[in-house]
Amino acid sequence: MRVVSGIQPTGNLHLGNYLGAIKQWVAMQDSVTADGGDCLFFLADLHALTQPVVPAELANATIEMAATLIACGIDPDRAILFNQARVPAHSELAWILNGTARMGWLNRMTQWKDKAGKDGSSQSVGYFGYPVLQAADVLLYQASHVPVGEDQKQHLELARDIATKFNLDFGVDLFPLPAPLISEAAPRIMSLRDGTAKMSKSDPSDMSRINLIDSDDVIAQKCRKAKTDAEPLPDTVAGLAERPEARNLVTIYAALADRPVAAVLTEVAGQGFGSFKPALADLAIATLGPIRDRLSGLLDDRPAVGAALIDGAARASALAAPTLAAAQRAIGLQI
Ligand code: TYM
Repeated sequence: MRVVSGIQPTGNLHLGNYLGAIKQWVAMQDSVTADGGDCLFFLADLHALTQPVVPAELANATIEMAATLIACGIDPDRAILFNQARVPAHSELAWILNGTARMGWLNRMTQWKDKAGKDGSSQSVGYFGYPVLQAADVLLYQASHVPVGEDQKQHLELARDIATKFNLDFGVDLFPLPAPLISEAAPRIMSLRDGTAKMSKSDPSDMSRINLIDSDDVIAQKCRKAKTDAEPLPDTVAGLAERPEARNLVTIYAALADRPVAAVLTEVAGQGFGSFKPALADLAIATLGPIRDRLSGLLDDRPAVGAALIDGAARASALAAPTLAAAQRAIGLQI
């Protein structure tokens, strides 16, 4: 197995990133590397360039986010942890795949359509081509599995289309089709202020998300103020169907507790949010508190985090080189 996934070093990591992606990464790192497979996790700093950047903030955010991943349990000795920009093969393969991807495919990406619908012509060219770089990220390592939240599924389907077309066009069997692995427990964690909108680092309201660096008091306050309805909690999953906020809070609780939603409901059925929210806050604090403490220790030695990224980039480059060379050969480039 070859597992590859990335995260953009912009804004704060939040509970959606943790439950939807990072928790799976940590679990896979343990099982996959024990079986002799590889796990590559990277900070997608090249993807961050598709939106306006403040250079000093990007550099800091890359180190801080790498430290956060380590605090969450990513072990840079077992997994390969690096920043994308330090492995130029990502950009080189992305350029080659720009010749394979079709404008129509990119035009159908919901992430693009959301932004383009508002003001497409002022977006960067890079933002339009973003999914091609993402395809290169995974195809470069011949990834078998890509653990992501549900919002990334469409991008991975595009990566499969690009891989298929490249293999066909050039008569090679170079790129295996990567399988998205979407967390069953937390495919899509929603905003605490609106159960129909995704929890997101770009939401202007900080109350909409629980950040991994929030203090215990802030976590408790965000849980207390989370939007809910007036009904008591139901005893079946079906009873949550028309209640997006209630469903989201129970999903978060179940994912944090590593228990099925149905099992949680049998315990909390009939309770109002007055008692459920403090229990949710306690669970979130019990999970995030130790991560925050480890993070603050790691940030005391930023050069050590930077050194781990340099080491990871060297290991990633070695894995990337044969695939990039094979793609260059297939397409007739003289390198
Ligand atoms: P990014 O940085 O937006 O998010 C990182 C990971 O967190 C997941 N996620 C969520 N999961 C559940 N609920 C949520 N509310 C939630 N919000 C975010 C995302 O699905 C993702 O798995 N384009 C990617 C980064 C990327 C990448 C890649 C991922 C670049 N190249 C190659 C996989 C493979 C992104 O912006 O993720």
